[in-house]
Amino acid sequence: MSDEPTDIGKPTDLDDALAYRLDPLRGLDGLRVVPQPRPTPGPGQVLVRVRAASVNRRDLMLMDGEYPLPATPGVVPLSDGVGEVLALGPGVTRAAVGDRVTATYYQRWVAGPQRLAAVREQHGANHDGWLARYVLLEEESVVHVPDHLTDAEAASLTCAGVAAWAAVTKPAPPGPGETLLTVGSGTAALFAVQFARMHGARVVCVTSSPEKAKRLRAIGADEVVDRSETPDWQVAVRELTGGDGVEHVVDAVGLATLPQSVAAAAYNARITLLGAFPAVAPLADPFAGNYVSIRRIAVGSRTDFEEMNRALAAHRLRPVIDREFPFEAAREAYRYFRDGGAFGKVVVTLRD
Ligand SMILES: NC(=O)c1ccc[n+]([C@@H]2O[C@H](COP(=O)([O-])OP(=O)(O)OC[C@H]3O[C@@H](n4cnc5c(N)ncnc54)[C@H](OP(=O)(O)O)[C@@H]3O)[C@@H](O)[C@H]2O)c1
Repeated sequence: MSDEPTDIGKPTDLDDALAYRLDPLRGLDGLRVVPQPRPTPGPGQVLVRVRAASVNRRDLMLMDGEYPLPATPGVVPLSDGVGEVLALGPGVTRAAVGDRVTATYYQRWVAGPQRLAAVREQHGANHDGWLARYVLLEEESVVHVPDHLTDAEAASLTCAGVAAWAAVTKPAPPGPGETLLTVGSGTAALFAVQFARMHGARVVCVTSSPEKAKRLRAIGADEVVDRSETPDWQVAVRELTGGDGVEHVVDAVGLATLPQSVAAAAYNARITLLGAFPAVAPLADPFAGNYVSIRRIAVGSRTDFEEMNRALAAHRLRPVIDREFPFEAAREAYRYFRDGGAFGKVVVTLRD
């Protein structure tokens, strides 16, 4: 933790509730701390007292005006969080007072294929998110979290966790003996490693340092290629599969690494692009002469989330947490995440 003074300078409690509100395009100065009166849930709404929230790459993109959906000025940021249900609006049946819950990334995508209309309603972008004492949820977006997880872990699932779950398991998980490659070691990639192992795949990872390689092995990677030592990592990955290539790729970097992911892929492989880092050069032929399926997905539905949570509970699996910051130091958490040194989730916790 930095020695810098905290952002607020005094602790928060229920009588002195505060929220961060985001004014985009102003960097960390755009994160204002304001009093937050306790909201009253309306019909179909659930009031949650927040215990923890976590930062994703999209939250930096929203701050920087680089996300496809612009942040509404003054929105409470962060899509990921966990808390306890405090009160219910009329007609609510999907939650009870005292439940420990989180919420979906998209406010209204319950099941089925993703539609553009659903993508336009997001917590922490144009609906208030989790960096606050209270969050008011529509009951359709409420998701109960696995009991075995700490609050920090349960606050780490919504974005990277569900995206990785959908990437690894949809439309079908890796088959017996198949190899899945992850590219990058951000939070989405770490979940993908864990979920691929859960399904019995052989997991090969590409990362950027010996230290990260060691940590990837510790969470279940069978083989790791260090791109700082092996820039042509696609060749090394093919060699690890006897020259055939991998059947599945979860590319959590983006168009910057897609050509190498395609080159590492087996005939008929499935490549799922999660990452949003742009291409370094125009892609003349994205398939590079190979026969593969390339798809780009955005997180997942509530049904995907609930399925993932059942799997987490059954396997007692835990998200990788890098570091926790107190609510007062939320800007420091953003700064730390942006600096790129984290391995795992960066979490902001609130005192009771
Ligand atoms: N589509 C979705 O639903 C979804 C969900 C979550 C995240 N995302 C996106 O996925 C990406 C990863 O997000 P995140 O939060 O997991 O991680 P992150 O903190 O943004 O980390 C990205 C990682 O990618 C690697 N990397 C960066 N530039 C690279 C390059 N040029 N070549 C190879 N590797 C590179 C680095 O890992 P190494 O040091 O190990 O190489 C870095 O740690 C972001 O673009 C994010 O917006 C998308």
